[in-house]
Amino acid sequence: MRGLLQWIEARLPVGRAWRDHLSQYYVPNNLNVFYLFGSLALLMLLNQLLTGIWLTMNYTPTAEGAFASIEYIMRDVEYGWLLRYLHSTGASAFFIVIYLHMFRGLLYGSYQKPRELVWVFGMSIYLLLMAEAFMGYLLPWGQMSYWGAQVIISLFGAIPIVGADLAQWIRGDYLVSGVTLNRFFALHVVALPLLIVALVVLHILALHEVGSNNPDGIDIKRLRDVDGKPLDGIAFHPYYTVKDLLGVAVFLFVFSAVVLFFPQMGGYFLEPANFEPANVLKTPEHIVPVWYFTPFYAILRAVPDKLMGVLAMGFAIAILFVLPWLDRSPVKSMRYKGWMSRTALALFCIAFVTLGYLGMQPATAITTWVARVCMALYFGYFLAMPLYTRREVTRPVPDRVPRR
Ligand code: HEM
Repeated sequence: MRGLLQWIEARLPVGRAWRDHLSQYYVPNNLNVFYLFGSLALLMLLNQLLTGIWLTMNYTPTAEGAFASIEYIMRDVEYGWLLRYLHSTGASAFFIVIYLHMFRGLLYGSYQKPRELVWVFGMSIYLLLMAEAFMGYLLPWGQMSYWGAQVIISLFGAIPIVGADLAQWIRGDYLVSGVTLNRFFALHVVALPLLIVALVVLHILALHEVGSNNPDGIDIKRLRDVDGKPLDGIAFHPYYTVKDLLGVAVFLFVFSAVVLFFPQMGGYFLEPANFEPANVLKTPEHIVPVWYFTPFYAILRAVPDKLMGVLAMGFAIAILFVLPWLDRSPVKSMRYKGWMSRTALALFCIAFVTLGYLGMQPATAITTWVARVCMALYFGYFLAMPLYTRREVTRPVPDRVPRR
């Protein structure tokens, strides 16, 4: 057995990978609950991939058969209802986990040098996840699937000169049709998951190259013992594998409760209009995307001009990519940053949640103006960042992780 293992090791260094990434990969000893969401994101990715494979076995990707095949999965396929709810609730849970994971990044300056690439890979994953969720939502071929896709794809039509052709190219037809459903299915089950998994591998490899940040933003690699082990570091395995397992258990408890008792979450995870088959001749009264898109949808609606709205929405996502180069603070964590950074982050979070709420409501004159104020706060957080992070007084960061 030992001989066989050595033979394998000489050709495929599994043991070395285990040591480099787990048993001798040193992680700061002060990671808190916010550091759980990376593992939970991995768990949710696995959940989506596995339940997705099983759903695909009984789903029909045609305009004539899609809606009925979902009903068939829900009523006749053994445990089909569970697979479907794990997948649909899983999508929302995935976004909750991802938003908390990103918030942790903002809170502790995890995007700052030397983790810029980790952040950029993360943002690329986020972008692909949004595309993945958008395309997945068309597949049940319900009213909201159909009209949501119609609205979002028509946004491309606002682009000057090429817009109309581009929208038609995406749909593969003059209006959203079975052709669109077919290509969204191909992208949703094959192309995008492959890209997402590849990017997650790059994300984690890039992180392991520089090591994890921590709630104090201290570089643990600077101070090492005689064996070269960081003084404030502990091995990822078994310490964090056990800690993460506890978090996973608690998370699964809550997740199962939602899947089993509130899978539609009062219309937030699965919208009521989507229980009606797509009808090309009947537009639903309020076309609203699922909650995880609504902050950006609110930005789109807050701008009177369609093209400017599309640009503002695109800019709201694009600006997150360059965040590592906007923050000029000498310290990483909010624990040592000044009051300006703290206030800016608090206002940003309030604005983001408010935009998310407004995006779900029918647009009125008042909601539009509130959305505009929130939009100003959203962009202000990023655009003023080079100024307030440079000017504010920060607290000195200790050399060692403080014992609390
Ligand atoms: C499928 C999606 C994702 C998966 C599976 C994933 C996975 C992980 C894992 C396992 C870690 C290490 C554990 C931790 O620090 O929580 C991590 C760290 C990190 N992730 Fe992600 N991630 C995903 C998406 C994102 C997104 C969307 C962003 C931001 C735009 C992001 C930014 C980061 C950053 C900055 C770190 C380093 C944090 C630190 O060291 O303080 N990730 N990710």
